[in-house]
Amino acid sequence: MSTTRTLIRNGLVITASDETHADILIEDGRIAALAAHGTDIAASWTASAERVIDATGKYVIPGGVDAHTHLDFPFGGTFSSDDFESGTRAAAWGGTTTIVDFAVQTAGHALREGLDAWHAKADGKCAIDYAFHMIVSDVNDASLKEMDLLIEEGVSSFKLFMAYPGVLYSDDGKILRAMQRASTNGGLIMMHAENGIAIDVLVEQALARGETDPRYHGEVRKVLLEAEATHRAIQLARVAGAPLYVVHVSAEEAVAELAAARDKGLPVFGETCPQYLFLSTDNLAEPGFEGAKYVCSTPLRPREHQAALWRGLRTNDLQVVSTDHCPFCFNGQKELGRGDFSKIPNGLPGIENRMDLLHQGVVDGHLTRRRWIEIACATPARMFGLYPKKGTIAPGADADIVIYDPHTEQVISAETHHMSVDYSAYEGKRVTGRVETVLSRGEPVLEDRRFVGRAGHGLYTPRSTCQYLD
Ligand code: URP
Ligand code: ZN
Ligand code: ZN
Repeated sequence: MSTTRTLIRNGLVITASDETHADILIEDGRIAALAAHGTDIAASWTASAERVIDATGKYVIPGGVDAHTHLDFPFGGTFSSDDFESGTRAAAWGGTTTIVDFAVQTAGHALREGLDAWHAKADGKCAIDYAFHMIVSDVNDASLKEMDLLIEEGVSSFKLFMAYPGVLYSDDGKILRAMQRASTNGGLIMMHAENGIAIDVLVEQALARGETDPRYHGEVRKVLLEAEATHRAIQLARVAGAPLYVVHVSAEEAVAELAAARDKGLPVFGETCPQYLFLSTDNLAEPGFEGAKYVCSTPLRPREHQAALWRGLRTNDLQVVSTDHCPFCFNGQKELGRGDFSKIPNGLPGIENRMDLLHQGVVDGHLTRRRWIEIACATPARMFGLYPKKGTIAPGADADIVIYDPHTEQVISAETHHMSVDYSAYEGKRVTGRVETVLSRGEPVLEDRRFVGRAGHGLYTPRSTCQYLD
C-alpha cells in the first residue's frame, strides 16, 4: 500500500455521473478528497504532497474495469498467448486497472480445483488488481452447492455456455438448475448465448461442402442462432427468477431480445465488446488466411449491426463493454485451423485497446464522455460487486486513476502494443486520445508512458454480489 501523499492537479475529473474541474488528494492508496481548482483547500494540499501530477488539459478518469478476460486460457488445444503477467501489463498500458478473468471448471472436477488453478496462474504475476468469475462446465449437485461457497469468497458470477457442445456446453436443464441456484444465493449467471447444437450441424455441412476458410466461421454462427439463444436464456432466467448477464452480444437481433426483456422490467443485462463495434465480417473475409485473426465467438457481424450496438449502449439496453480478450498468435496458433475454420482457436486480443477505442466512440459522437466511463468503469464495477472501491473517483475509493490525453492521436499496431500476440486486430487504426499515466491504488504503473509497474503489485480482489440490481 502506498503511504505517499499524491496530488493530481488541474485536470477534468470525469466519472459516470459528473465532470468537474477538481484536484484529487490521494493518501494510503485511496482517494482522500477532491476539491475545486483554485480553492484554499486544494492549495493547502500542495505543500504536503510528495508527488504532484499536473493534469492540465487532460482527463482524470477512473481506471478501467475489464470484466471479461481470458488470460492463460486453454482453448482449442492451445492456451491464450497472454498470461497474467503480460496481459495485466498490457491492460495497464491501455488504462485498465482491474480485470475480472474466468477461472474454468474442468468437467468431472470441482469448481474449487478450477479456482485454485486460476489463483496459482495469477498469484504474484499481476501488475493490476484482479478478480475471478467461474466457468461452470459441469452443473451437478456438487457444483451447485459449491457456487454458494464461491460467492462467500468473492466469486459471485458464473458463466455458462449454450455453445461449444462436448466442451463447455450446458443443456437447458443444467442452465435452469444453475439459474435456480443463483436466484437464491445471489449469484449472477453470465451466458454465452449461441445455439451450439445447431451451429455444429451447420459447421459439419459447411466443411462437407469444402467451405473451410475463416469467413465460414461467421456464416455458420448465424445471427438467428444468437438471437434464439438469447431469447431462450432470458425465458429460462424468468422461470428461475434469476438475473441474467449476456456476454459478448454481437447481433442487432440479440440486442432486440434484451431490450424487449428490459422493457418488461426484467433484470436482464448485456455486454458487448470493441471488436463488434469496430470490426465486421469484412475482416473475417480478408484474403488468404488473414481472416483467422478475427475468429471469435460470437462472431463478427456485417457492419450494419454496429449501429444497433452503439444505440444499445446509449439506451442502456447494453450496459457494459468488456474485451473478451483471448489472444492467439497468428503464427502457430490461429494456423491450427488452416483448411478447417472450426479448428481456429476462438478469440481476439484487445485488453490494451478498449479504453482508447471507446474514447474514439466519444470522438465519433456515439457516446458522451460520462457514458464512456459508465460502460467501461462504473457499471462493470457495480455489475460485479466491486463498486465503489473500483470504477469511480470518490473519497474512499481505491486510487486507480488514469490521466488521459484526449487530443493526442495514435495508430494502433502490433509493432507498438504490449500484448503478447503477433498481430493487432486494429492494425493501422488511427484513434484520438491516449493513456498517459496510470495509478493503481496510488502507485504509478505507467508514468508519462513509461511502464513503472511490477508483477505482483496487483492483488486478488474478492467481490460482493451484483450491485446493479440495487
Ligand atoms: O471467441 C471467444 N469469445 N473466445 C473466448 C471464449 C468465450 O466464449 O468467451
Ligand atoms: Zn463466450
Ligand atoms: Zn470470453
